[in-house]
Amino acid sequence: MSAAHGEKYKSDGSVTGGLIEWVDARFPLLTLWNDHLGKYYAPKNFNFWYFFGSLALLVLVIQVVTGIFLAMHYKPDASPNASGVPIAFASVEYIMRDVSWGWLIRYVHSTGASAFFIVVYMHMFRGMLYGSYHRPRELVWVVGVLIFLTLMAEAFMGYLLPWGQMSYWGAQVIVNLFTAIPFIGEELGVWIRGDYVISDATLNRFFSLHVIAIPLVLLGLVAAHVIALHEVGSNNPDGIEIEDKKDAKGIPLDGIPFHPYYTVKDIVGAIVFLMFFAVIVFFMPEGGGYFLEYNNFVPANSMITPPHIAPVWYFTPFYSILRANTVNFLWIDAKLWGVIFMGLSVMIFFFLPWLDRSRVKSIRYRGPLYKIALAIFVVSFLILGYLGVQPPSALGTVLAQVCTVLYFAFFLLMPVYTSLDKCKPVPERVTG
Ligand code: HEM
Repeated sequence: MSAAHGEKYKSDGSVTGGLIEWVDARFPLLTLWNDHLGKYYAPKNFNFWYFFGSLALLVLVIQVVTGIFLAMHYKPDASPNASGVPIAFASVEYIMRDVSWGWLIRYVHSTGASAFFIVVYMHMFRGMLYGSYHRPRELVWVVGVLIFLTLMAEAFMGYLLPWGQMSYWGAQVIVNLFTAIPFIGEELGVWIRGDYVISDATLNRFFSLHVIAIPLVLLGLVAAHVIALHEVGSNNPDGIEIEDKKDAKGIPLDGIPFHPYYTVKDIVGAIVFLMFFAVIVFFMPEGGGYFLEYNNFVPANSMITPPHIAPVWYFTPFYSILRANTVNFLWIDAKLWGVIFMGLSVMIFFFLPWLDRSRVKSIRYRGPLYKIALAIFVVSFLILGYLGVQPPSALGTVLAQVCTVLYFAFFLLMPVYTSLDKCKPVPERVTG
């Protein structure tokens, strides 16, 4: 008999060490701890914008935990109960009224969906502020965009589950978009729905995808995201590589161990975030009709189309881009152009690391051109988001068209204006 690696024999023949040593001799516990926390050196100048990665992790955990409890009581069934109300809709009402603390679990989950997108949009914006997608973090960014796409699918499918009017008609509109694709569109629509219209078959598959398939993909991607980041090390608000300046022991001069310094800092961020989160959950869980749309408190009815169908706020910038396409051009009709541009408006984020030709990363040392371009992009994105929740109007359409052009110009002209920009000198070491 021999002691496992890392353990030692005492003179009486027994093995030294406590539980941690016992586990560590059989599983790389301390190696993982040190690689990702205890001896992971992060730049010492992280600011407000660096809270959102850990907050995204927190929201992910909140969604998984509340989702598990919701799934214990929710029923994915579109058929009517004895009162004529769809069973799925009634099961959500049951959770709200009869399940102990069910209202809280449901509101935390529905608010969590919006919080997820707020946090992830802030997190992506941080990447754009400090050029976090630049070499060597291209893959961290690309995996991030994959996470974003997966999150959109997860939220879209989750929204069908309460089987309210907006669930039903929102899904109808979005799945119908796929039917605009030439040749295969109609069949593709039927394949996604499992029927010719949104129906019980759709509800069942969306439930299955929402509770297990997509969360698994999401968790895998998030693990890949963090592993890729820790391979190359974090960027920081100065956009300087701290790995370039190390002491005699090989420790970055501007680095501090993630634990305890940033674990403590992130806990402060999490508490502040949870305070805002609790205010929404307890005092305005509908979020003014943006987090939970009023029409979704009405059971789905395939015979009554709501006068105004708008997706939830986090999809509306992209929805506006879809609606801004009003012209049949070449042999492609306006609807298909809308679908193409909406798809491109998300996909284009993948290419950011290669579109940006700037030699500096952080906005602190960039010239005026990038600052102006980023400001115009943010304003266009917000206007598109606002227009997407409004009913269509002639003025709104023109404004959406202008903002769509500005949105794409930000990306497509990037190689030009980032090459021409007059950047400032970057300091040797990180600043405060
Ligand atoms: C579930 C969603 C996500 C989670 C849980 C997550 C988690 C994290 C964490 C924990 C970090 C390290 C801490 C930090 O730098 O803030 C990080 C960094 C990063 N993430 Fe995410 N992320 C998510 C989505 C995204 C998305 C959608 C993108 C971009 C499209 C993205 C791009 C990045 C980049 C570029 C970094 C490195 C930032 C730097 O070092 O400056 N992430 N992420």
